[in-house]
Amino acid sequence: MKSPISTRLSHYGTGIFAALDEKKQTLINSGRTIYNLSIGTPDFKPHESVMKAFSDACLDPENYKYALTEIPELCKEFTSYYMRRFGVDISDCDFTAVHGSQEGIGHIGLALCNKGDVVLLPDPGYPIFEVGAYFGEADIYYYPLLEKNNYLPDFKAIPEDIYKKTKFIILSYPSNPVGAVATREMYIEAIALAKKYGFIIINDNAYSDIIYDGNESFSFLSIDGAKEVGIEFYSLSKSFNITGSRISFAVGNKEVIEAFKLLRSQYDFGVFKPVQYGAIAAMNLDRSVVEEQKAEYQKRRDALCSGLRSIGWNVPDAKGTMFVWCPLPEGYADSFEFCNLLMEKTGVICTPGAAFGKNGEGYVRFALVKEPQEIEKIVKIIGDSGIVK
Ligand SMILES: Cc1ncc(COP(=O)(O)O)c(C=O)c1O
Repeated sequence: MKSPISTRLSHYGTGIFAALDEKKQTLINSGRTIYNLSIGTPDFKPHESVMKAFSDACLDPENYKYALTEIPELCKEFTSYYMRRFGVDISDCDFTAVHGSQEGIGHIGLALCNKGDVVLLPDPGYPIFEVGAYFGEADIYYYPLLEKNNYLPDFKAIPEDIYKKTKFIILSYPSNPVGAVATREMYIEAIALAKKYGFIIINDNAYSDIIYDGNESFSFLSIDGAKEVGIEFYSLSKSFNITGSRISFAVGNKEVIEAFKLLRSQYDFGVFKPVQYGAIAAMNLDRSVVEEQKAEYQKRRDALCSGLRSIGWNVPDAKGTMFVWCPLPEGYADSFEFCNLLMEKTGVICTPGAAFGKNGEGYVRFALVKEPQEIEKIVKIIGDSGIVK
């Protein structure tokens, strides 16, 4: 048999995750307690009303037919939600539901890119960004996110000949893995460049409801000129703890969304209708539900960041997302080796920064997926292990 693997796929491997997984399994098999802070799935529950809307809709046989597109009630709710939540009127935009931003971002390159186009991606960055670019056969130019720049892009450092070939840039704040938040000025600069060089901005807004210290997130589409040059992926997954339901949206510039819809119409028959009803209920929830959850995340952030500092690990506070981005403690340089050692000595699992790109080396990412008391216990275990010198 010829190799079943396309050259496109040969780029992907299980790599260091497989090695860490193997180690985790060995520890579990030997009876060790594991504290898994590597996964990005919230441990909070979806709201009762969301589960009820979903399960009621599951009892109607009509809802098992191909959805094909968004039901009118979902379109109405999403439009009104963007106004209530972000003060953005999307009546002059187009939008489409996607099976999660992951799926949407993974496919958008197919709709927008030709071979030879350049896609600008953050390093470190969320891995699906690369997939979208590879599928579109684009060349990737990584723009570094550095601590000294508050993890914001330095647009002036990107060469003009790269801008000229750029088809789209992905921006994503609050940002996974680095836990940084954006300024409006950064988006204003990006929009001016997009207009000058004719490229598209894709904003990934997955963590709008996990932001700390009284900061408020915003929609990219609320910035002047954004709708002329870009779109936003808005995810319901983390705000409403429905990561498994797979529904998010791409919204913004009509031409871009039209191209994306044309692509999607070739392979996608729409989001399962009960999931659409669940999404309507989620967007209808009182804001206090999300605010309470945000406060809980902040308690977790505080327990981890202050806790690690109290044991001599100099970790800055994350400003947003459900992740904390930590420079390796003194004396360590290799994030994979450090994660391995941490797991071996303490049973605590985190993600090596190098998994998110070259500039992620020297860091690890912890996910805030345990209650504060449990996080305090984990910090004590790390402290007692002597791994932080
Ligand atoms: C930055 C970022 N974008 C997108 C996603 C995917 O979100 P969704 O559940 O909508 O596919 C994630 C999930 O962890 C993420 O961290």
